[in-house]
Amino acid sequence: MSELTPVLTARWGMPDSWRLETYRRDGGYQALAKALTMEPSALVDEIKASGLRGRGGAGFPAGMKWSFLPKPDGGPRYLVVNADESEPGTCKDVPLMMADPHLLVEGIAITAYAIGCDHAFVYLRGEVVHAYRRLMGAVEEAKAAGLLGQDILGSGWGLELTVHAGAGAYICGEETALLESLEGKRGQPRLKPPFPAVAGLYARPTVVNNVETIASVPGIVARGVEWFTAMGTERSKGHGIFSLSGHVTRPGQYEAPFGITLRELLTMAGGIRAGHELKFWTPGGSSTPLFTAEHLDVPLDYEQVAAAGSMLGTRAIQIFDDTTCVVRATARWMEFYAHESCGKCTPCREGTMWLWGTVLAIQEGRGKPEDLDILADIPASIVGKAFCPLGDGAPSALTSSMRYFRSEYEDHIHLGGCPFDPAASILLEEVAL
Ligand SMILES: Cc1cc2nc3c(=O)[nH]c(=O)nc-3n(C[C@H](O)[C@H](O)[C@H](O)COP(=O)(O)O)c2cc1C
Ligand code: SF4
Repeated sequence: MSELTPVLTARWGMPDSWRLETYRRDGGYQALAKALTMEPSALVDEIKASGLRGRGGAGFPAGMKWSFLPKPDGGPRYLVVNADESEPGTCKDVPLMMADPHLLVEGIAITAYAIGCDHAFVYLRGEVVHAYRRLMGAVEEAKAAGLLGQDILGSGWGLELTVHAGAGAYICGEETALLESLEGKRGQPRLKPPFPAVAGLYARPTVVNNVETIASVPGIVARGVEWFTAMGTERSKGHGIFSLSGHVTRPGQYEAPFGITLRELLTMAGGIRAGHELKFWTPGGSSTPLFTAEHLDVPLDYEQVAAAGSMLGTRAIQIFDDTTCVVRATARWMEFYAHESCGKCTPCREGTMWLWGTVLAIQEGRGKPEDLDILADIPASIVGKAFCPLGDGAPSALTSSMRYFRSEYEDHIHLGGCPFDPAASILLEEVAL
């Protein structure tokens, strides 16, 4: 049985957890002091050895990403922290920044020192004004205490940290669209290569990492690689925040080692809400194929979730019980992708609109049997043909829901309405008779 491993969440329950004083009392900024006595390259090697993988969805090894930066040429190099957090279901970075913003600021300072950067940015989703204010407050506190700005802790090294609020677009979480937006342009993805490590912000070498990735750095520096690698599975090391939402007794953030199962998480979270059963769930947000009750024992790490047919993504576990109409849930997700498609490429711009329109018609009882063929066809015109991963992920919920619950789509068409609508379900019984 896996147990919770509160590291990033350790201080969340403390009074004034967001204050510098609280953070320092609990050992905060000691990892930065230690890091400043080390060679930057040794820090990069340490993060590489820890196996820390990016927590923003793709799981790319963080130390390896840092080591991709070209050799210093005297010009600027940037660290950009991705705090856009817009994937439906993903809700870990905002609470982290609210409860313990100094953990992120310390992680930024260590990472910036490691990669030779003296100006870092946080790109934050603009709607979360409370998180923006909280983070700005922490930056001010850190500056006043000599933990940011010139000559940090007497090391002779300095760091400027800019917190930028975006206007709120899912696509601005994609790292190159984020960089475009940060430069003041329309937030649309760039062609890769060149990757940001070579030509990122203002065409300079740039590391883009997720909030949780960077917040994991101080722990590794302070407590060592062995401590970190003792948690997790062979290729997915360490601790991570699993966000449980939906029809669960105690929704919330559960920080646990990679490889924990949903069955174990549900035991900690009081199970599915009383009187109901699990119907389907997303292991990593709405871009990841749905799982069902048959996947309760899949170890939640990158490899084993992929082997079972989905993706770990951001560990945004949205739970739906037997009262949920899967067609309705899918229609809502398809609406999101149609709305958030940036419109740059045709397969995604047109395909997401078709997906939404067709699923919505079925949900509302206007569907025809041939719509199921259309829904089976469209994803193949988007996946692998879109310009960025938004398009690739858009049909995931649809394709997987049709795999596991095709009969529900057929029932909607057959009935001309939703079987989960109490009035319609009586009709369905009559049709069946
Ligand atoms: C449509 C889309 C939205 C994304 N949103 C986020 C986000 O909100 N936060 C994030 O860290 N990564 C997001 N990503 C992934 C980033 O492109 C990038 O991989 C990540 O920031 C790298 O950080 P990591 O290696 O620490 O995970 C998104 C990707 C796509 C395609
Ligand atoms: S896949 Fe969608 S979001 Fe990505 S570039 Fe194309 S239109 Fe924009």
